[in-house]
Amino acid sequence: MKILIINGPNLNMLGRREEIFYGTESFEKILKELEEKFPKVELEYFQSNVEGEIVTRIQQAADEKLNGIIINAGAYSHYSYAIHDALMIPQLPKVEVHLSNIYMRDEFRRKSVLSSACDGIIAGFGKDSYRLAIDFLSGNQRPKIGFK
Ligand code: DQA
Repeated sequence: MKILIINGPNLNMLGRREEIFYGTESFEKILKELEEKFPKVELEYFQSNVEGEIVTRIQQAADEKLNGIIINAGAYSHYSYAIHDALMIPQLPKVEVHLSNIYMRDEFRRKSVLSSACDGIIAGFGKDSYRLAIDFLSGNQRPKIGFK
């Protein structure tokens, strides 16, 4: 069981940015906790501050044996049609995650252009947003509504 976690811009600065929204821990620490929590799941982590690199990594995932993709594209979530279009390519379960509740913040964060390319979205649970996404993908649970 292998899951790819993709983090976008500024998520490499977790622990050093707006604690109120993003907490005090680095993603490396969060990842370690997730690895301990899910010993049977191989977690591959990719982070980039560059839109095109994220697009390329998603394209590559289309040819890989993965059980799913978790993506937190940071601010790109709100306007990157290129990442949206890339996410439409891999025939894999995809979960969009956000640490913060994007619907209770600035107006520009209230829309994600990636959600329609993902199976589900988890936002507002801090680092647990990632845990919940792994729970879903590793259990291979599929919601009954809206899926073939
Ligand atoms: C974020 C929310 C985005 O609006 C923001 O630009 C981020 C992080 C989150 O995880 O809450 O960088 O995706």
